[in-house]
Amino acid sequence: MRGNSVLLIIGGGIAAYKSLELVRRLKERGISSRAILTAAGSQFVTPLSVSALTGEKVFEDLFSLTDEAEMGHIQLSRSADLVVVAPATADLMAKLAHGHANDLASTALLATDKRVLMAPAMNVRMWNHPATQRNVKTLKNDGVIFVGPNDGEMACGEFGPGRMAEPDEIADAVERALSEKGGALSGVKALVTAGPTQEPLDPVRFISNHSSGKQGYAIARALAEAGAETTLVSGPVELVPPARVKLLKVQSAREMLAACESVLPVDVAVFTAAVADWRPEIAANSKIKKTDETSSRALNLIHNPDILATISRGKKRPQLVIGFAAETDDVIAHAKAKLVKKGCDWIVANDVSPHTGVMGGDRNTVHLITAKAVESWPELDKREVGTRLAERVAQTLHGQAA
Ligand code: CTP
Repeated sequence: MRGNSVLLIIGGGIAAYKSLELVRRLKERGISSRAILTAAGSQFVTPLSVSALTGEKVFEDLFSLTDEAEMGHIQLSRSADLVVVAPATADLMAKLAHGHANDLASTALLATDKRVLMAPAMNVRMWNHPATQRNVKTLKNDGVIFVGPNDGEMACGEFGPGRMAEPDEIADAVERALSEKGGALSGVKALVTAGPTQEPLDPVRFISNHSSGKQGYAIARALAEAGAETTLVSGPVELVPPARVKLLKVQSAREMLAACESVLPVDVAVFTAAVADWRPEIAANSKIKKTDETSSRALNLIHNPDILATISRGKKRPQLVIGFAAETDDVIAHAKAKLVKKGCDWIVANDVSPHTGVMGGDRNTVHLITAKAVESWPELDKREVGTRLAERVAQTLHGQAA
């Protein structure tokens, strides 16, 4: 860990005294700290004690001309390897969740290009409040790492979750986050497709597939978290794009193929999108009117390009090409056939029959099919499927067995 540094944001709370101890714990591990003390934080610990322990000037004011001359707030936000907020108050969390930047701490949090680790500390009711829990969810979605809060008796006399994690626990989490910085997939370029495609019939109608995009987004997130430079080509979905992922939004299969080709070359490509196999032969420029209420209307459909097969067999084929197979019967047999037919290296196969709840749900039971083997994973959260897949990708790209 030697040579690493954190930007420590000390919020206002009785737990702020533990942040002084945190600075010492980090120093013991070879991690230096530079601190921002919020106005509320300075009610609990003094700038002098923070400065004495960090051995650095303490930053407090967004509009300090001297501070800005020495180190601008943008530079401050990026100067460290990791931003640590301890104690993370309900207010600081709400500010970041909503993108406020009205003081030095919130501005640095918004301007940083580094990962953020939060150690919340607050009254149990404040922690459990739906507003705080909403913010935690948003922040986690944005890639913020949380440590704690722990259960226990609080300074206010109440009992429950809300106590800031102990300095050693936070220091452990800091070390973990710093070791991921170099990431198993750093230097790797990844492409992920996700969501459905929509194939227009006219300006107001389209044909499409069911797809929430959750599994694809979780894979893109996991690849990015492992350090891969990740582009996510997504059809229309209601999801917040993961942090540090480049999002290219598309509507139709042909747009998806063009977007994917524009991203090549990449090292690994994962095709999770539920691409519409057909599109209406003619997409009318104006709304098709129903001329006769009783007559039926034929729809002429033509095949869309197969994006996975095209890229698998193309000149710029990625080193590792991974397809998905959403099946409702004979899952493994169909998936094995797809592996051969589409020329990819792996197929992640799952049963999406209605009783499984996979479609639109948060959990998934998948089989990883390679040319040599079938590996059945237990039922997992879609995020865990993403993490495991990213680990397997890293092992394979680094020359270990698939
Ligand atoms: N796929 C693709 N382009 C298409 C169709 C599918 O890239 N036009 C990809 C999907 O993203 C997935 C894999 O191919 O990774 C398998 O998709 P699936 O819909 O299961 O396969 P199909 O070829 O459409 O076969 P079928 O619908 O007959 O099961």
